Amino acid sequence: MRIGVIGAGQLGGTLATWCAESGHEVAVTSRHPDRLTDLVAHGDGHIRALTVPEAAAFGEVLFFAPNWESAREAIDLAHDAMAGKVVIDATNPARIDAPVEGTIPGAPGPGGLGLGGPGTGGPGPSGPGPSGPGSGGLNAGGADAGSLSAGGMGAVGLGSFAPGFPSALDVPSFVRVPAAPGTSPELGIPTRSGFEQLISWAPEAHWVKAFNTITTDVLDRRRGHDPLLAEWVCTDQRDAREAACRIIQELGFAPFFAGGPEAARLTETGGPLQRLEVDVQDAKDVLAEALATIH
Ligand SMILES: NC(=O)c1ccc[n+]([C@@H]2O[C@H](COP(=O)([O-])OP(=O)(O)OC[C@H]3O[C@@H](n4cnc5c(N)ncnc54)[C@H](OP(=O)(O)O)[C@@H]3O)[C@@H](O)[C@H]2O)c1
Repeated sequence: MRIGVIGAGQLGGTLATWCAESGHEVAVTSRHPDRLTDLVAHGDGHIRALTVPEAAAFGEVLFFAPNWESAREAIDLAHDAMAGKVVIDATNPARIDAPVEGTIPGAPGPGGLGLGGPGTGGPGPSGPGPSGPGSGGLNAGGADAGSLSAGGMGAVGLGSFAPGFPSALDVPSFVRVPAAPGTSPELGIPTRSGFEQLISWAPEAHWVKAFNTITTDVLDRRRGHDPLLAEWVCTDQRDAREAACRIIQELGFAPFFAGGPEAARLTETGGPLQRLEVDVQDAKDVLAEALATIH
């Protein structure tokens, strides 16, 4: 598959490298193409450097991983090519950085990943990880996709994609997470999640939230190892969910559906799932606990 990575910094560069290792053709972007020399070389012919519009057009599936401050600008550049494509949003809104009330036990301190700050000056892909997803025995991505609610009706299945973890935990699809810490209508700061903001800027894209909670060093350490690390997936688009789950599995993690776009706030900076390193067998309980913090 052709994958476009918009914003090939620490996270995007790492994902680009892993996708190339998994056999995908990958296009990465930078406003400073010379910074991508090592990343392209590391891709063994499967990674090319393109402009943002070119990479967006190249990819059948896109990763969206710029700094949050640049997100709007990047969308403006990629917008035309995003329509109808699955876009995996790995960003965190930088302004949501206040302490979280009711954070679940084991969660990191306030501030999340501190992500979205000034650029680090270039891609930082780690070396090749362990050999693939391997031993988790996961089903094909999307095996559980039938539990997606249609048109806001019924319940949203929250099951993982691993055997033995059925969609036993269901919450009504109208569950809303509260305004994110640090946001306030009075201050003129949007109370919706960053993910919902992105969707509003490019509604024709098929957005899915994933890969935004865990730092690349932890991803690198956990990649492909049992017990597999749970990777939260938020979307209301079936094709986006299936594509993201497939890629998550290929890269050596266990996709775990957390809900629709409104659930993304649970995973973003300041949310109870941000920076939590969760084994897949614990994901259902951890998600239930995170949801409990919003009541
Ligand atoms: N680093 C992690 O471990 C991690 C983990 C989870 C989520 N995230 C999220 O991923 C996002 C990126 O984090 P990062 O640590 O990878 O940051 P980073 O290393 O600073 O990379 C940011 C990327 O954004 C690109 N960019 C900046 N302005 C742009 C613009 N106007 N148009 C297009 N691209 C632009 C930069 O490209 P240039 O070369 O042009 O500057 C660079 O490739 C953040 O939202 C963060 O919350 C990061």
